[in-house]
Amino acid sequence: MRLVWRKGRNRSGVGQSILDVPADTLERIAMAVDTPVYVYDAEAIRSRYDELTVALSGFPHEILYSVKANSNLSILRLMRGLGAGADIVSGGELVRVLRAGFAPGKVVFSGVGKTRRELTAAVENHIGLVNVESHDELTLLNEVAQELRTVVKFGFRVNPDVATNTHPYTQTGERGMKFGVPMGEVLSQALWARDQEYLLLQSVGMHIGSQILDASRFRQGAEKLASLIEQLRDSGAEELHSADVGGGIGIQYTSEEGLDAAQYASVIEPLARSTGLKIMLEPGRYLVGNAGYLLTRCVHTKQSGGRSFVVVDAGMNDLLRPSLYGAVHDICVVAGGETDELKLRSVDVVGPICETGDFLGVDRKLPEVKRGTLLAVRSAGAYGFTMSSNYNSRPRPPEVMVEGNRWAIIRERETIEDLMRGEQLSPDVALDWRTGRENTVDE
Ligand code: LLP
Repeated sequence: MRLVWRKGRNRSGVGQSILDVPADTLERIAMAVDTPVYVYDAEAIRSRYDELTVALSGFPHEILYSVKANSNLSILRLMRGLGAGADIVSGGELVRVLRAGFAPGKVVFSGVGKTRRELTAAVENHIGLVNVESHDELTLLNEVAQELRTVVKFGFRVNPDVATNTHPYTQTGERGMKFGVPMGEVLSQALWARDQEYLLLQSVGMHIGSQILDASRFRQGAEKLASLIEQLRDSGAEELHSADVGGGIGIQYTSEEGLDAAQYASVIEPLARSTGLKIMLEPGRYLVGNAGYLLTRCVHTKQSGGRSFVVVDAGMNDLLRPSLYGAVHDICVVAGGETDELKLRSVDVVGPICETGDFLGVDRKLPEVKRGTLLAVRSAGAYGFTMSSNYNSRPRPPEVMVEGNRWAIIRERETIEDLMRGEQLSPDVALDWRTGRENTVDE
């Protein structure tokens, strides 16, 4: 795929707004490709990556970009160019990262429900590491490795029993959750694996949750990993190469402070020091979250029951986070420089979907919004497009990458035809579905 770059506006030029990408570049994009549209700022992604790399520079580490956050091929290509590896969770993500040019050795496969087919693809492609989450999965991986007569490097994702105070749906590190091998079972599974010809234990890891703003949770998890690693080594696991601390670094959405990279590094560092192992981490949101916008236009305004609604052309099918997690994303008028508090009005920004839960923002203070006003939903770079759907038969939006003062479409808008691809019209006669016989309809 060759990108077609179009001109935007220089960042230092007029039209600078509270957005990182100049407002008139966003206007041009919206005019050219229509709304809703996802826009990603390449430079913002690079600077996040650099920030993290600098913070972690005191100890050996490897950044594995968590593909689920944003899996567009151009984003993946950007990450690969920065030197990242990839953290994947499905056969589909494996194909994506290989297509984007990641070296298989820099790919780590996580996830609680990998199928035989997915494990086979991983082993055939000689990926760097398979993180297993249960003994059942380990035995399946062993079968696959035996069949293919290939030594497989694997790691245990453990459940460290660490509580996080993030949204319940994105907590993963506590006892009783579906994720990870319970700490107490890791040793016996490691001993079992040692007797298998084709299994090679290389890593122990965790992923305790997502959007974590409190560094002490990572410290607790890292301490538990350190003692587990010591225990494993005491029982003869000498071939460990790395400790994987997962993803989950929290970012700023509105007024909260994102977790500082240096603070994060300081709670991880003791694990690196005490074990001498390379630290692998799997950030997704941290790298791309703040670098993305969802642009949407107002289609109608209305008042009802004492509330003011701004109905926009993006809905929960485009950005699910507000509806699913009650997530709060900043919303602003792209070209509206109105800052006078008194002139701001409180509105609910809602989508066109036939569900009351279809909202992008509730009780937002915005300057006057009319039909056609362009709005930007901020921090939509992670888990935005990747969680979008075709609900209400709505084509998914296009994706655009901004690079300096140029921009390019990195995914076309879906068409209505795309929505029906693979579907069949049933025969144009009434069928008796129970008997399979045609119903004869008496005229
Ligand atoms: N590693 C593993 C094994 C994961 O399951 C995840 C995210 C990550 C890394 C990356 O986490 P991050 O650094 O992006 O927090 N849809 C939710 C987030 C779900 C995260 C699932 N796992 C949301 O929109 O908030």
